[in-house]
Amino acid sequence: MTALLRLEQLGVIPVVVLDDVVRADDLADALVAGGLPVAEITLRTGAGLAAIRSVAARGDVLVGAGTVLTADDVDLVVDAGATFVVSPGLSLAVIERCAARGVAVLPGIATATELQAAVVAGLDHVKFFPAGKSGGRPMIETLAEPFSTVRFMPSGGVSADNLADYLASPTIFAAGGSWMASRAHIAAGEFETIARLSRAAVDVVARVRSGALA
Ligand code: 3PG
Repeated sequence: MTALLRLEQLGVIPVVVLDDVVRADDLADALVAGGLPVAEITLRTGAGLAAIRSVAARGDVLVGAGTVLTADDVDLVVDAGATFVVSPGLSLAVIERCAARGVAVLPGIATATELQAAVVAGLDHVKFFPAGKSGGRPMIETLAEPFSTVRFMPSGGVSADNLADYLASPTIFAAGGSWMASRAHIAAGEFETIARLSRAAVDVVARVRSGALA
């Protein structure tokens, strides 16, 4: 299964900021315990790359890299084991290097101009960022009108409270967010909380997709 299909199947993606790589294994255990074996580990901290390597080596978690800004970053995270790459914005150099390395790429877009650039670059999956402040689900659905083949992963301002509403849109294939595995919870070693919040998010995905929530 491709990484994008797996992301769609999971439906929700924890965005992780790790301050210390020693927390990586416990974090991965908590996500697995919560039924959500996926993490977008960001390069926002010095520990990010080592954490990608550590979690990817386990083999039981789909590991992506976030805050990937340059083609050189792509090489570093793919060499560390990341199978999908996420950026806050759109960089053709990042997109091209991901294609060359054979990994999925989700550039961040928030305008029609950026979305058009992604489509022209051959993509049909993008991140919508920062989702809440850029107009949320209504803006995604408006952008999707002229670009009907594109599907979106909102991230930034997605929460336990609005996850169901985002996922109820057929244009949205998954949502990303930090609330399930927050930097504070990781730093405090609150891994049971992370497992519980992950499980709750997985339940929302299942309920939306079964038609129990809309
Ligand atoms: C991202 O990179 O997508 C965001 O930092 C996640 O945003 P959140 O903290 O609002 O969930």
